Amino acid sequence: MRILVTGGAGYVGSHCVRRLVADGHAVTVFDNLEYGHQQAVTPPAEFVVGDLSDPDALARALAPGFDAVMHFAGYTNVGESVAEPLKYYRGNVTNTTNLLDAIRTAGVRRLVFSSTCAVFGVPERLPISEDLPKAPINPYGATKLVVEWMLRDSAASWGLGSMALRYFNACGAAEDASIGEDHTPETHLIPIVLQVALGQRPHVQVFGNDYPTPDGSCVRDYIHVDDLAEVHLRAVTSIEPGTADALNVGTGRGYSVLEVIQAARDVTGHSIPVVIGPRRPGDPPSLYADPTRVRQRFNWRHQHDDLRGVIASAWRWHQSHPRGYRS
Ligand code: UFG
Repeated sequence: MRILVTGGAGYVGSHCVRRLVADGHAVTVFDNLEYGHQQAVTPPAEFVVGDLSDPDALARALAPGFDAVMHFAGYTNVGESVAEPLKYYRGNVTNTTNLLDAIRTAGVRRLVFSSTCAVFGVPERLPISEDLPKAPINPYGATKLVVEWMLRDSAASWGLGSMALRYFNACGAAEDASIGEDHTPETHLIPIVLQVALGQRPHVQVFGNDYPTPDGSCVRDYIHVDDLAEVHLRAVTSIEPGTADALNVGTGRGYSVLEVIQAARDVTGHSIPVVIGPRRPGDPPSLYADPTRVRQRFNWRHQHDDLRGVIASAWRWHQSHPRGYRS
């Protein structure tokens, strides 16, 4: 297939591009490099610098003709979304409106969209299945949910086929450590813990140890980025025009913050000092997926089942790239 990938120079996007290229697809990445890294794009994928706020750039990028679009580009920082909601509505909703206009004009009828478990807010039960109420508690989750609605309505109105994949906590890096996670500023737990192991930070602050969880710290579902990439590959090759679906993509198992830190101590051999801090606003106590539907739909199961193995893959990346892509 010929596939245009927005945000293909970002963390999840770049791992998906690598998987698509390995499967023989013709990939063009469209990325404004605000947060992405051009070195993260696996050849022979083509690279176009462009911004989703620019309809002419989008039209030019889509002109060669594509079978599908994968849409990763967007803002992803929950805390920032609370402080700057309009940045998130503009970046995640308005820009996706531009993209949908352009792909409609270009005649593309298949789209895979990066959604998030944040569309559920604080879920009323666990594990989180697709039928639970969507009640985001921050602008980031709200913007992703609005796009899910846009996709549903576009299926009914003009025949777009789409699949929204609601990621839980993406983590890990390519097995050969050629690409990995590099955010500035870094806010995610596993990279921060590994930066402590590298001596770049003195300690990791645990955001709250008084949650109603087994050890008091928050529980999350950590899914390896290459497992996410495999789901994207299966999604893009199976979408039917005129249908809109949304799937929860996680492992089905939750780990606490303290368990993640202990696993990282085991992997790195570093003591990784901890400071217990206050809760971070907007953090639900526990989030983990019910992956039944995604497993059935794609005959898929995550391959990276061992948290230490997942952290070890991230550790190889961080050791070989201590300053990320600037290393
Ligand atoms: N945490 C700490 N200390 C840190 C960083 C994180 O204790 O220095 C904790 C957080 O409080 C949370 C857990 O580690 O309980 C994981 O935090 P991350 O920031 O790594 O990830 P989030 O669960 O906040 O965010 C992820 C995705 C978002 C998505 C969100 C849904 O990165 O895109 O899940 O809740 F919106």
